Amino acid sequence: MGWALLGCALLLALYALLRHGLRRPPPPRDRNGIRGRTAIVTGGSAGLGAAAARELARSGARVVLTARSAARGEAAARSIRAETGNAEVRFMQLDLASLRSVRAFASAFLRQEPYLHLLINNAGVSAGGITEDGFSLPFQVNHLGHFLLTQLLLERLQSCAPSRIVIVASSAHCAGRLRLDALGQPPPGPFSTFQDYCDSKLANVLHARQLATRLQGTQVTCYAVHPGFVNTELFRYALLWLKPLFLPLAWLFFLDASEGALTTLHCATQPGLECFSGRYFSDCCPQEPSPPARDDRLAHALWEASERLVGLRGGGGSPSPGPSDARQ
Ligand SMILES: NC(=O)c1ccc[n+]([C@@H]2O[C@H](COP(=O)([O-])OP(=O)(O)OC[C@H]3O[C@@H](n4cnc5c(N)ncnc54)[C@H](OP(=O)(O)O)[C@@H]3O)[C@@H](O)[C@H]2O)c1
Repeated sequence: MGWALLGCALLLALYALLRHGLRRPPPPRDRNGIRGRTAIVTGGSAGLGAAAARELARSGARVVLTARSAARGEAAARSIRAETGNAEVRFMQLDLASLRSVRAFASAFLRQEPYLHLLINNAGVSAGGITEDGFSLPFQVNHLGHFLLTQLLLERLQSCAPSRIVIVASSAHCAGRLRLDALGQPPPGPFSTFQDYCDSKLANVLHARQLATRLQGTQVTCYAVHPGFVNTELFRYALLWLKPLFLPLAWLFFLDASEGALTTLHCATQPGLECFSGRYFSDCCPQEPSPPARDDRLAHALWEASERLVGLRGGGGSPSPGPSDARQ
């Protein structure tokens, strides 16, 4: 027994040494197409958003990174400017848990920034709670806030086309169940917060799908992304008793943020992806999402409900998807 434990410990130590000691950051890629273009990265103060913002800045983009916390956002922008030598990186405050803040951010951005070529809807939370607008926290931050933000910035994206929208979803969408009659309310049950997170991620995949349908012919394309399992601060709200087990596992086996940002960056900058607009990407490749995430009627109903919940008028003028819309 003692020898078996010692053997396991040695194997784990060897694995940790190989994984963390010998690991190099992903090699720099040629992302010249983004040079001089303007990108917004929501949740750019930490984790995947900070990694994506850093890589876009390294490639010469003008980057507006947003976060709720001004101290963390300013610090991230400063460190990215220093690290990449790109002075065109700025922080703007945006709290996606507040529709008022989303509107204020959008109007400040449109006033101050003449261009927008890339919108990365990355910010996310896995914690529970209710927002000032009365919605569940993960559903509003992960979906509704980004839905409103995208609508408010769409005209600018269209006037700067070709342009792209990348929505950071998750494979957790597979466990999502959208209840349209109670959209934005925490689901019942003992795993309500986890279910809420999964529901919001299903909404992310459906949002990209429906957006692509509505944007056909505009040269604005959009993509949903699963970044992989990544060791970030997303899990800081995990149950206290789970942390001693979960955090070492995450450290050992999960990707780091620069690796996790690769699929987002692929969808943001890789030429020739236009024919995949609306699709779900994982490992830099289009993948088939869960059956509900391919349901165009559900995507359409979610769109209309989201419009109502964020206070936008009904989607008059936008083509509604037919049942024959067979994007996979
Ligand atoms: N990590 C994973 O394994 C994983 C897997 C699948 C999908 N994802 C998705 O990847 C995205 C990024 O997550 P991450 O892992 O990088 O998490 P993270 O390290 O916790 O970073 C989250 C970012 O979102 C921002 N944010 C949180 N609440 C906000 C709010 N109310 N308004 C505006 N910004 C807010 C945070 O900014 P503040 O500084 O203001 O807190 C932070 O910059 C999320 O959409 C997540 O669902 C992650």
